[in-house]
Amino acid sequence: MTAPSPAPAADAPIGVFDSGVGGLSVWREIARALPTESIIYLADQAHVPYGPRPLAEVSAFSEAIVRHLLDRGCKAIVVACNTASAAALKDLRARFPGMPILGMEPAVKPAAAITRSGVIGVMATPATFAGRLYQATVGRHAASIRVVSQTCPRLADLVESGSLDSHRVDDALRGYVRPMLDEGADVIVLGCTHYPFVIDGIRRVAGEGVQVIDPAPAIARHLGNVLVHHGLARLAGAAEYSFLTTGEPSRFAAQATTLLGSPVTARAVSWLSPTQLGGQ
Ligand code: DGL
Repeated sequence: MTAPSPAPAADAPIGVFDSGVGGLSVWREIARALPTESIIYLADQAHVPYGPRPLAEVSAFSEAIVRHLLDRGCKAIVVACNTASAAALKDLRARFPGMPILGMEPAVKPAAAITRSGVIGVMATPATFAGRLYQATVGRHAASIRVVSQTCPRLADLVESGSLDSHRVDDALRGYVRPMLDEGADVIVLGCTHYPFVIDGIRRVAGEGVQVIDPAPAIARHLGNVLVHHGLARLAGAAEYSFLTTGEPSRFAAQATTLLGSPVTARAVSWLSPTQLGGQ
């Protein structure tokens, strides 16, 4: 087991990671809700997409990333990726005890509370649906309703490619959203952090009677509470933001600048050796 040392103080940054740019949908909510908190964002673009990969492989990537973020002095970790949360959240908490580690869980509970038709749709990756976290969430909160689990094979790649308003995205969204509507879904849960960047397109295809839930604002609020609980909340001062990628920094910077609407610079991390990752 590895414990971070020395113990991080409130001024330390929060570490946030995803396979790519999707976790920026969580980053922007954290930055909005907790404007004095510094954040290190790490995109594992050398391995994006995570969705089609085996859970064990995503778990190995996640552990290496968390270790790296803790080496950089992070005081808390947000796994801003449903797939990595499905693959690794439980193990990460066991491996880094005492470190606040938050993850993404498809927002099945709030969806179940507001559906009138008794059918909800969840859009996520195959790995997320395969994980025990999803099965447990559905079992706990949606036993009396029907859940349509919709994989969206090309969507994370389309968001990574930056074509958010293209015909290709609209065509893909129609193919993913309509089957859920045909089953009677009146609430759609975004179960992948890449998808909030195409939420307007999803709403367009779904139509007015359907609610679309992005869990990112709730995670940011929860993070605020967790930091206070651990005595780690930073109450004043200017936030510092840094962005790291295992891919090409100039490409990430351009993607993030478009998605966040403000200039982003990024640095490469080259620490992910194949051995650390259990082979690639
Ligand atoms: N953004 C990720 C998620 O929330 C994964 C997308 C991918 O890499 O397949 O699941």
